[in-house]
Amino acid sequence: MTATLRLPATRPGSRIMSVGSYRPARVVTNDEIAGRIDSSDEWIRERTGIVERRFAAYDESVCDMALAAAEKALAGAGVAPEAVGMVLLASVTHPYQTPSAAAEVADRLGASKAGALDIGAACAGFCYGLGLADTIVRTGTSEYVVVIGVEKLTDFVSLDDRGAAFIFADGAGAVVVGPSDHPGIGPVVWGADGSQKDAITMTQSWIEYRDEPAEQYPVLTMQGQQVFRWAVGEISKVCTEALEAAGITSDDLVAFVPHQANMRITDAMVRALKLPEHVVVARDIATTGNTSAASVPLALDALIESADLPSGGLALLVGFGAGLAYAAQVVELP
Ligand code: UT7
Repeated sequence: MTATLRLPATRPGSRIMSVGSYRPARVVTNDEIAGRIDSSDEWIRERTGIVERRFAAYDESVCDMALAAAEKALAGAGVAPEAVGMVLLASVTHPYQTPSAAAEVADRLGASKAGALDIGAACAGFCYGLGLADTIVRTGTSEYVVVIGVEKLTDFVSLDDRGAAFIFADGAGAVVVGPSDHPGIGPVVWGADGSQKDAITMTQSWIEYRDEPAEQYPVLTMQGQQVFRWAVGEISKVCTEALEAAGITSDDLVAFVPHQANMRITDAMVRALKLPEHVVVARDIATTGNTSAASVPLALDALIESADLPSGGLALLVGFGAGLAYAAQVVELP
């Protein structure tokens, strides 16, 4: 007779225990960007809501920034690094194909017993990671999971690209997910439309660059209008599905933390979702720019710092971007 496999005891829920973030020191104004791309402070503010953003230092790496954010999150949760069972790191700008950034960050954190995995879902990567962390904790696979979103987009966007130079920036955010006696992270609604994979892509593959190198090594390029239309048309539906999946309505929310892609996209989603007045909306893009995978945890941390939000209050998170991938869920605030 075949032996029956044993599974760990499941848990009724998981929750975000703490948030930590890291913003590079250098503040970069629109004026500093605009000259090279025949743009202006006024145009950038009007079309994106961005007033300034942060750029990492030349020698500051994705792993350095991820570590700084994860250390703060662990300290906030009161969880020892050795107790972490998994480090999930979402990024598209770690400059090594292998090994993963998560492995380096886990080692530098002292998370000696943790699994380590990078997530390549671009601006949706953090919310994908949160969905995975919830499953890992609820199934009893690990007790504590660190989820990080981090980008150094300045390494992979050309400052001469009129369609992208003004929007992207650098930073890191992290959370610790741990057990809860009730669901503190709602069901994740995720998906991807690979038929639009060229809407945000690289200028060349590494193989093309090897065989016919362009002047610039492969950097990110975006069909801004196409992505804008998709985000405004589709992502509020994804948000509604996440609310329904969690069994709540927008009246139950205290906060809305969308990926900080463009202030006009956030405004359009707020209108489409008919969010009640009392829901506080994250508008971190004004001073942080679009930090892809890092934007949701950075915005969440800033909102918790600045607004008087109740612990346990419900927030709707949504990430969307290259792929075109998306993920949304409702969470209890730490
Ligand atoms: O994070 C991942 C997901 N990414 C996103 O969600 C980004 C989505 N897309 C966007 O946020 C917007 O498409 C952008 C902010 C990237 C661009 O804004 P837009 O309103 O879509 O600009 P556009 O490309 O439609 O261009 C409008 C006008 C054009 O001039 P005319 O033809 O109306 O005279 C452009 O030539 O603005 C001009 N323009 C610029 N002017 C100054 C385009 N880029 C610039 C620029 N500076 N950088």
